[in-house]
Amino acid sequence: MRIDIVSAVPKLFNGAFSDSILKRAIENKHVEIHIHNIRDYSTHKQKSIDDYQYGGGAGMVLMVEPLDALIGELKQQRAYDHIIYLTPDAALFNQEKANIYSMKQNIMLLCGHYKGIDQRIRDLHVTDEISIGDYVLSGGELAACVVSDAIIRLIPGVLNDISSALSDSHQDGLLAPPVYTRPSEYKGLKVPEVLLGGNAKEIEKWREEKSLERTKKVRPDLYSDD
Ligand code: ADE
Repeated sequence: MRIDIVSAVPKLFNGAFSDSILKRAIENKHVEIHIHNIRDYSTHKQKSIDDYQYGGGAGMVLMVEPLDALIGELKQQRAYDHIIYLTPDAALFNQEKANIYSMKQNIMLLCGHYKGIDQRIRDLHVTDEISIGDYVLSGGELAACVVSDAIIRLIPGVLNDISSALSDSHQDGLLAPPVYTRPSEYKGLKVPEVLLGGNAKEIEKWREEKSLERTKKVRPDLYSDD
């Protein structure tokens, strides 16, 4: 898979892909990450890429020309399965979308800044719009890191044990059950007996029950009786 990230602040990605699972995924050629600076496509002397919004109102808007030039150039080089704009005024990202994106070849992530991007970029190029939560970030960069991480770890071969990803919270619509490691007792708190017993059926049943219990308690919106 190849992920192209379009950003006005490429430095925000320093470090994001340089450790742990994402670093290994890049080293092992499961994914290529290419970061593109919108400012490189400014036609202005001062390299400006934003302007006041028509109609008035606070906040600057990323201009149409540099973004169109950059995205147009990338689209000429390859066909994109999805051109995704990260923005708080969109439907929420979730595990189902991460699963879908993880099976694609070429994805572009478009990071907004200031008040957002000129609507015509959305009309011309964007195929998907996603928000990572009902709050506003300073720009789409951190959201792009979140989305990239969620996608990359699902690419076949990236995790040593894919069953680990399949048992994550949200993968089956429920939150994950509690997990424990050694020691079996700590400060008087004991690991549930069933996990020590080695009866796979019993353990699975216990995990299902705990998943349901946790989901009903903290995310009742995810739980339905049918
Ligand atoms: N850009 C600013 N806020 C955002 C959010 N919540 N999700 C995605 N992109 C954003």
